[in-house]
Amino acid sequence: MELFDVIEKRKSVRSYEKCKIPKEDIEKILKAGSLAPSGRNVQPFEFIVIDDEKLIKKLGEEVQNCISEASVVIGIIADPSQSKFWLEDISATTENMLLAIENLGYASCWIEGTLLPKEKLIKELLKIPEEKRFIIILPIGKAKGEISKKTKKNIKEITHHNFYGNKYF
Ligand SMILES: Cc1cc2nc3c(=O)[nH]c(=O)nc-3n(C[C@H](O)[C@H](O)[C@H](O)COP(=O)(O)O)c2cc1C
Repeated sequence: MELFDVIEKRKSVRSYEKCKIPKEDIEKILKAGSLAPSGRNVQPFEFIVIDDEKLIKKLGEEVQNCISEASVVIGIIADPSQSKFWLEDISATTENMLLAIENLGYASCWIEGTLLPKEKLIKELLKIPEEKRFIIILPIGKAKGEISKKTKKNIKEITHHNFYGNKYF
């Protein structure tokens, strides 16, 4: 797909059909994540691929129901000791992965809000070292049903020209 089509098509999906996701596809998603920009190119992140049924079910119970319908879950682990930009870095990584997931014909959702309050518990479950942060997971599957796209702000309303308040469009 054309890059702009992928960007336009991507949307948060919270209902999945189980499907077989080949390791090559997971590799492409991880590669896309690894190629994201990061402050001083420190890349203070690691990934965890979760395909164990019991773990996926547990994540669904503890974090957000829809996760249990995913075929694979990718988690992004951050090491704040490596960079003060760790949050921005994992955000860029996450968006790259979401676009790769869309391009490969799967669906996903950036899960962070519901993971944050459970971070400690989930880190223990997945044996992630205490000093690392684990705040974003991406459930991956085939979209179940039709999901409408969210409305976005019109660029005409949010873009200024040279000086704030001057219209660009
Ligand atoms: C930082 C961040 C945290 C989010 N946390 C959650 C979450 O915990 N659960 C969820 O269902 N969606 C979560 N989302 C997805 C947003 O709700 C979604 O991106 C937003 O509603 C816009 O919809 P769209 O992704 O389809 O454009 C999160 C997105 C971001 C960027």
